Amino acid sequence: MREKKITPFYKHDHDELEVYFLKFKGLKTKDYSQAKEYFKKFSFGLQRHIVWEEEILFPLFEKKTGMDDCGPTMEMKSEHRQIGECLQALHKKVQRNDPDSGYEEQILWYFLKQHNYKEEHNLYPAIDERISSREQEKVFSLMQSLPQGD
Ligand SMILES: [Fe+2]
Ligand SMILES: [Fe+2]
Repeated sequence: MREKKITPFYKHDHDELEVYFLKFKGLKTKDYSQAKEYFKKFSFGLQRHIVWEEEILFPLFEKKTGMDDCGPTMEMKSEHRQIGECLQALHKKVQRNDPDSGYEEQILWYFLKQHNYKEEHNLYPAIDERISSREQEKVFSLMQSLPQGD
């Protein structure tokens, strides 16, 4: 089931998160409690994805290239902070069951889409080029070993 390469696996996770986000958007004016379930899946999944990248994937790239304080992972990490702030703002609306969150959704989506594009087209392929299949296996087993709380 699991794809061995980093790029398709992480891209698939981006796509799955997009589905949850769109379901939330589509349902929020029809059935807010159902929409909220999708928001939770989206929010938990996005935070888990960022932890996978920052704790496992990026350190590996930094070790391989020696680019730990000037390279693309620095930029991606700073975008994660920005995305996290947008997610927080949307979360506040969701906590109040307030469907009037179009502005927060738009900003979050704008940052997230650009960020995902850069990872899928630059960073992930650069990681795939540099790591062995043993290292790939290690990435996936470390991802499984991280706590699954929410
Ligand atoms: Fe990321
Ligand atoms: Fe990502």
